[in-house]
Amino acid sequence: MEILGIDVGGTGIKGALVNIETGKLTTEKHRIPTPTPATPEAVANTIQELINYFNWKGMVGCGFPTPLQHGKCLTGGNLHENWKGIQVDKLFESKTGNYFSVVNDADAAGLAEINFGAGKGVKGTVIMITLGTGIGSGLFLDGKLLPNTEFGHVLYKNGEVFEKYASDSARKRDGLSRKEWGKRLHKYFKHINLIVSPDLIIIGGGASKKLEKFEAQINVDVPITAAQAENEAGIIGAAMAAKYQIK
Ligand code: BGC
Repeated sequence: MEILGIDVGGTGIKGALVNIETGKLTTEKHRIPTPTPATPEAVANTIQELINYFNWKGMVGCGFPTPLQHGKCLTGGNLHENWKGIQVDKLFESKTGNYFSVVNDADAAGLAEINFGAGKGVKGTVIMITLGTGIGSGLFLDGKLLPNTEFGHVLYKNGEVFEKYASDSARKRDGLSRKEWGKRLHKYFKHINLIVSPDLIIIGGGASKKLEKFEAQINVDVPITAAQAENEAGIIGAAMAAKYQIK
């Protein structure tokens, strides 16, 4: 069965058709830059553009970069404050006429990795951490998701959250080498390990492709591995979540 998977990110909105039985993309990815400002109207227009590009009439699974409860956005996060309180699935449905399932982007990426990738068959606690514009998290126990964890928002110091200190956009903002960034990530993962005691940490987002450039700096007592589907995990997992209707 094919579902259109869409991953809404802070800088790009990406989509592809996904075979949800194999967890593989069946088309090339198509990416459209995230509009600025990323208001609900502007993002809904971009979603429509992606649907037109794939000429898709059917179910759409969408990963969204904020916590969501039953398809409703709880905070505007890195997108735009106007998202708060918006029923995202209904907005995209009325815009496009397609059925939508919308889940948090890091939960989606984790679902893909737990079912088909680095977390497949792993018992116990697995945490997916996506490093991108923000820091997202997906927490799993024996393969089952606890949705909407926000481990990018644990406090670092002086009221600042780790996301502002250790995300990929913080690396770019502060002009850090991968080694310098790795040192920040070491502090972050040490803290995550302390509060969650996971059996495995999976790193997703754009940074997953470059793990070898900063993993030497991260010295924590838990295996850390890159998402096997790299940055495509979010698209694959969003499509899978649509199948299971995790709303
Ligand atoms: C949001 C999370 C999201 C993460 C990655 C954070 O700012 O609060 O919900 O998963 O960014 O996009």
